[in-house]
Amino acid sequence: MTKKKAIFLTGATGYLGSYVADVMLRETDVELLLLTRARDRQQAVERFWQAMQMHMDAATYYSFLDRVRFMPGDLTAPGLGLSAEDRAFVVKNADSVLHMAASLNRKSEKTCLNHNLRGTLAVIKLSREIQDDHGLRRFSHVSTVAVAGQRDSETLREDDAIEWDRSDYDPYGRTKKFCEHMVRELLPEVPKTFLRPSIVMGDSRFAETSQFDMVRAFCVLVDLPILPFSGESRVDIVNADWVGRAISEIHLKDAPKYDIYHLSSGAASHRIHEIARALVASGKRRPPRFVPALEGSFEKVMDQLAGMKAKNAATLVGSLFKVFLPYITYDTVFLNDRAVEEIGLAPTPFIQYAARLYDYAKSVNYEYPVLPLPSRESVAKTPAPNVSRGVASA
Ligand SMILES: NC(=O)c1ccc[n+]([C@@H]2O[C@H](COP(=O)([O-])OP(=O)(O)OC[C@H]3O[C@@H](n4cnc5c(N)ncnc54)[C@H](OP(=O)(O)O)[C@@H]3O)[C@@H](O)[C@H]2O)c1
Repeated sequence: MTKKKAIFLTGATGYLGSYVADVMLRETDVELLLLTRARDRQQAVERFWQAMQMHMDAATYYSFLDRVRFMPGDLTAPGLGLSAEDRAFVVKNADSVLHMAASLNRKSEKTCLNHNLRGTLAVIKLSREIQDDHGLRRFSHVSTVAVAGQRDSETLREDDAIEWDRSDYDPYGRTKKFCEHMVRELLPEVPKTFLRPSIVMGDSRFAETSQFDMVRAFCVLVDLPILPFSGESRVDIVNADWVGRAISEIHLKDAPKYDIYHLSSGAASHRIHEIARALVASGKRRPPRFVPALEGSFEKVMDQLAGMKAKNAATLVGSLFKVFLPYITYDTVFLNDRAVEEIGLAPTPFIQYAARLYDYAKSVNYEYPVLPLPSRESVAKTPAPNVSRGVASA
């Protein structure tokens, strides 16, 4: 690899990571050093393809691989599980660190402790080595608006979100909040950026998604004739293509204006009845009845379902609502002026693509149909077009 910007990136095989990698590979000449949970390079190439196929064809994918160095490892393993050779390479060559990998398991204290807290600490330790070797241009930490904890009918700015006396909804929010704290405390002299997405759901350019938890909860609500909460609640949902672009562009800036950014819909967030109206207009549902008085009973039923041992569609839905209901009904939005100003682009309103997302999720039964990676030889004859799927279909 040459001495271009090299980014040590975690979480590239994930939903949001694939958007970031897509923008960086397609629109810049940076090199990516990817911490990847895989046995070896070959398996890492296949794992990364599983995430990237939503964005590109196999020929394009292969054409980018000379700018990707896969580093088999794991956030929870000693020293990130990196080989001595890979670790030395990162320490010598990485110009910045973009830490996206995390567990989004909102129920397990243990998983969040291991992946989010221990994992982030291990990434910070590696970053310190880079800093001591040649200086780190930037450490960007992909966090979440969930660090704001339990809220009720609020409109929040970035600097007002973290309050240590406030309770959190779940171990995910709690550990992500402490991750931000660790990064600040342990990398004091390194330029840092904290990027906090809100509820990321779907792509404004095409129907596909590979992340379904929140989407499934959304589809269940679309199908309910009675909605057990107020239609006046605002829900901060944001499109993944905008979030991925914001993370990439802000991380790559020499001097972003702020250190914390909400990657959210902010003041433009819809009220639930606006989303319902858009779905009625597109023929996906009949007008719902909003009955806020049922919220408590709905929550109880969902909690009971979530607590049952059986694994079936009902208990799955119960588990989803147990963790997501607060984020749907807390009527709290996260102002995004900083990110919109920084990248010169606003998110796409959810109502513009909600119906298409609903159709897609149902058509694949909430499972992305992953295709295996064809051999390099079999795609060699196809020229790599380097056209984003989103742009192509726009
Ligand atoms: N999606 C949202 O709505 C949302 C909202 C707010 C904030 N965020 C934040 O955005 C970031 C990315 O989330 P996402 O939605 O893309 O999640 P995701 O699809 O679940 O991806 C998580 C990524 O982290 C990696 N990872 C998890 N545990 C790991 C470990 N022990 N070692 C190495 N890698 C590990 C996963 O690797 P594998 O592929 O091997 O599993 C995957 O690449 C997270 O920090 C999350 O907190 C997401």
